[in-house]
Amino acid sequence: MKREGPFPIVRQPIRDRAIQSLMAFWRVLPKKKWSAGVCCLVFLSLVLFMNTPSGSASDNEAQSLKELITKYDTSRCKECHEEIHAQWEKSHHARSIMDILMDGYLTKGVLSVKSPKEATRKNFPCFKCHFPQIEHASDQVASEIAEAILNKDQETMKKLNINCLVCHRDMGIVHGFPEADALYGATDVEEHPDDDYGKVHRSPVMTESVMCGQCHGLGPVFDFEYPVQCATLYGSYLHAYIPAGGAKTCQECHMEKADHTCPPNFKDRKDVSKRLAEALPMDVDAMFYRPQITPGKFVPTVVVDTRIISRAGHRIPDG
Ligand code: HEC
Ligand code: HEC
Ligand code: HEC
Ligand code: HEC
Ligand code: HEC
Repeated sequence: MKREGPFPIVRQPIRDRAIQSLMAFWRVLPKKKWSAGVCCLVFLSLVLFMNTPSGSASDNEAQSLKELITKYDTSRCKECHEEIHAQWEKSHHARSIMDILMDGYLTKGVLSVKSPKEATRKNFPCFKCHFPQIEHASDQVASEIAEAILNKDQETMKKLNINCLVCHRDMGIVHGFPEADALYGATDVEEHPDDDYGKVHRSPVMTESVMCGQCHGLGPVFDFEYPVQCATLYGSYLHAYIPAGGAKTCQECHMEKADHTCPPNFKDRKDVSKRLAEALPMDVDAMFYRPQITPGKFVPTVVVDTRIISRAGHRIPDG
């Protein structure tokens, strides 16, 4: 996944070049009042035009953590998608940076900082998958996040998660960038009654494993100055499960009837045990006998033949 999210990188030089050529044009013009007026108008409208975000709302980097949280606020989705929202709130996706021990990384090792103010987006390679919104944020936001993590500010950390807009916009389309006012789902909704996102486009990836594979990992992530490795389960799905004839998608096994709790939920030990028992059926054949190796001396012996089959679509455990 190569997503140069906030991409004024390309736009900036074009704008600068346009301004330079306009300035050159200005210099050769006769110094008459009317032409100066027209020129000013052309100049202003061009600059304004070039400052307008092209295509997607994601062009603008959030300058503060508050702004980023507001931009990704999904509390209103709850009004109409109550059940899905409640399911999601119970999922690991809803607490994606709570248990990842980033405070350790920020205090020791190559990603550490002396004070939160020093932290930039480079200190958070883990957020590629745990909080991908970071791509739409400035380094100032990264330092505010470092502060929240180092102060163990759970209230703020809870708000930094993988929510509806992450999956139904940023990760919901893999070719190109999301349209400013659209969501991406399994079906088209031409008139979606939400103030900001007035339509839902059907996106073919939404029901495919690659959607989840964007974060559930192929192997080590070499994109960064200091490569990291965490989840690698999508690699196992592609290279072991599929070649062995597996035909199910992640969604079919983990989001049955669009269940947004995405089990397993490791906080629910009982359910995890139940799921694992179903996933890893074990056949045991045992034979007990007492061979008489030396006359009159019986040695109790047992032969146990065990076969464990995995019904998962990948290796478990992962990570
Ligand atoms: C005022 C009510 C309302 C609000 C607010 C709302 N939705 Fe919807 N949404 C609907 C209705 C109605 C549909 C179409 C019927 C359905 O699939 O439930 C829909 C459909 C969808 C779909 C398409 C489902 C599919 O079949 O693939 C997605 C995705 C979605 N909404 C996400 C969201 C998200 C994310 C938010 C918050 C940003 C949101 N909605 C806010 C009412 C709403
Ligand atoms: C390629 C995407 C990716 C990157 C990069 C990544 N993670 Fe993860 N991480 C995941 C996914 C997906 C899971 C959950 C699924 C799993 O474990 O298979 C996870 C799970 C975890 C867990 C277990 C969470 C829990 O609730 O028990 C920890 C801890 C963790 N990651 C820490 C980190 C840290 C620290 C970094 C950076 C050094 C990092 N991860 C980088 C994708 C990633
Ligand atoms: C981890 C990614 C992820 C997150 C987070 C997520 N969704 Fe979804 N959502 C999906 C996928 C994938 C599907 C399609 C599932 C399928 O049809 O197989 C889906 C389907 C839906 C549907 C269609 C349900 C149906 O009955 O077909 C709605 C509506 C929806 N999501 C709304 C939301 C809302 C609202 C939120 C936030 C509370 C949210 N989603 C969060 C991935 C996500
Ligand atoms: C934006 C990145 C991202 C996307 C897209 C994503 N996940 Fe996750 N997922 C994560 C991270 C990160 C965690 C671990 C959160 C934690 O506990 O710290 C996780 C946790 C999970 C878990 C809980 C088990 C565990 O080890 O934590 C399941 C199951 C899961 N994801 C399935 C899916 C499925 C199925 C999809 C596709 C519909 C999907 N995910 C899409 C990042 C993602
Ligand atoms: C054939 C069904 C099947 C498919 C396909 C499948 N899974 Fe799983 N997955 C399982 C089972 C079974 C388990 C272990 C038992 C459980 O659900 O708790 C599991 C466990 C997991 C876990 C927890 C891993 C851990 O360390 O314990 C994550 C995360 C996960 N799957 C994500 C995915 C993603 C992402 C995909 C698609 C690339 C996927 N799964 C495809 C059945 C499947």
